[in-house]
Amino acid sequence: MVPKIIIHGGAWDIPKPLHQPHLSGIKSALKIGQKILLNTDDPVQAVLAIIKNLEDNPVFDAGKGSFLNKMGEVEMDAAIMVGSDLSVGAVAAIQNVQNPIEVANLVRTKTEHLLLVGKGASGFAKEQGVAFIKTEDMLIGREKNRFKKLAGQDKVNIKSFFETKKPSDTVGAVVINSRGEIVAGTSTGGTPYKMAGRVGDCPIVGAGFFADDLIAGVACTGWGEGILKVQLAREAIDRIKLGNAPHKAASGAVDYMRSRVAGDGGIILIDKKGEVGFAFNTPFMPVGVATGEKIDFVHLGIG
Ligand code: GLY
Repeated sequence: MVPKIIIHGGAWDIPKPLHQPHLSGIKSALKIGQKILLNTDDPVQAVLAIIKNLEDNPVFDAGKGSFLNKMGEVEMDAAIMVGSDLSVGAVAAIQNVQNPIEVANLVRTKTEHLLLVGKGASGFAKEQGVAFIKTEDMLIGREKNRFKKLAGQDKVNIKSFFETKKPSDTVGAVVINSRGEIVAGTSTGGTPYKMAGRVGDCPIVGAGFFADDLIAGVACTGWGEGILKVQLAREAIDRIKLGNAPHKAASGAVDYMRSRVAGDGGIILIDKKGEVGFAFNTPFMPVGVATGEKIDFVHLGIG
């Protein structure tokens, strides 16, 4: 099988000045993952490298570019799932680590658990010697200003961020190697002005992500509460199992979320045959796809 990668940079109404930064961010992360996949044929290393790159890029709401919660702090969620053995590692509401995806993978490989949250997750990260980042270095100016504006409002409707030109990223990647081994990964700073301790879909298996070599790998983005209610990743997986092609499975799952909970967001996936699919119901979702040595496309979801 020819190795394949699909990645996204969040589903929302991205304003024009941010189109180019999103496209170049997706392109460089895709190229980094492609190089690693071609050199190692290791889909875990490829997913980690892609997501770490996106977390380090302040354009995206993950790692360095994360939104601030109601307390003016950053709490991040991330997850990785390996489709050969169904192993999962995830962290939620973790603070001050540079790359939450790295800690999620350590949960997968070094513990008997799937998901660590809050202080427990940060404590584990410290034990494992991962890179930490001071709160003041996490808080990029864009998000500090956004926080000040939101904090001055009487009522903040978080769901509306996914419908309007307000920000709501999240990043995700799905990779299949030459042996048909599939890995999916996600990372996010969640939603702007969320309550402290709020956890979205991103670190929840079956909601924000799923990977099974016998079926497909999926990563989701969008309004986490809606994605959680319909178990969006699992919904797409079930549609693949029923024999739908990847694009149809992805769009069917997004349509289902819209009809059941008025949810907004998107999905990327690769099925066991190496076919990619994606769908979203927001104005944009930056997507990049690579097959072997070729970059198939990088666009804003409408190409
Ligand atoms: N999809 C990201 C979140 O709602 O946290």
